[in-house]
Amino acid sequence: MPSEDFGRAKIAIVHLKNKGFEMPQVAGYRRPAPGTHPENAFPLYASSLKRAPSKPLVYMPHTLSEITGPTFGKESVHAKSFDLTHQHSGDPLGERIIVSGRVLDEDGKSVPNTLVEIWQANAAGRYLHSRDQHHAPLDPNFTGCGHTLTDAEGRYRFITIRPGEYPWRNHYNAWRPAHIHFSVFGPAFATRLVTQMYFPGDPLLPFDPIFNSTADEHARQRLISLFDWATTIPEHALGYSFDIVLNGREATPMEN
Ligand SMILES: [Fe+2]
Repeated sequence: MPSEDFGRAKIAIVHLKNKGFEMPQVAGYRRPAPGTHPENAFPLYASSLKRAPSKPLVYMPHTLSEITGPTFGKESVHAKSFDLTHQHSGDPLGERIIVSGRVLDEDGKSVPNTLVEIWQANAAGRYLHSRDQHHAPLDPNFTGCGHTLTDAEGRYRFITIRPGEYPWRNHYNAWRPAHIHFSVFGPAFATRLVTQMYFPGDPLLPFDPIFNSTADEHARQRLISLFDWATTIPEHALGYSFDIVLNGREATPMEN
């Protein structure tokens, strides 16, 4: 059976003799190990019960289109969209921070030129979104969205504001820890990861059902950024590093 590399996935070409044409048989990406991603239904996270499948999942093999695209070029991103502190005429309120890291695949290799998107609340814990009715001020100088491409070594970097904690009505006195939402495409649809980055030492983490919906302790720890002295800019901003691993045993847990 001949095979060839196509992107990062290996594809075997098989002949379907009875149909008379060639059809690629796809060796898909590895599936996550049990416990390393959030449970679909996690009773302490109330809304997960409404959207979780009620029947056993059906195994669907990855198809060619899922493992080979989409790809994003430099024309897909605005060069300054990595800096969420310079999207308006004035400076946003709050503590400036640098968030940077690498996107890696399941074998620890860097994933270059891949789209990384973030969205977050402002320093007061309020999203610029019609459904966010938290009684906290909006910031006219902060939209809370950014995106960038990783470089040739899989590195990304954002300049932003440390997001505020905010209440949600999951249970009595429920507060989300400070977090930044991430979407990372990787080389294909099958590797797209949507997750949340947390901050080290946050006292709300033990009380947060979303953070704790990932059963595996080591996997949960991969959601917490590290304070990063090396990327801290004197008299300007503290640095945090957050590496993201797509699929495989060391994968960053995916938000369900
Ligand atoms: Fe959020």
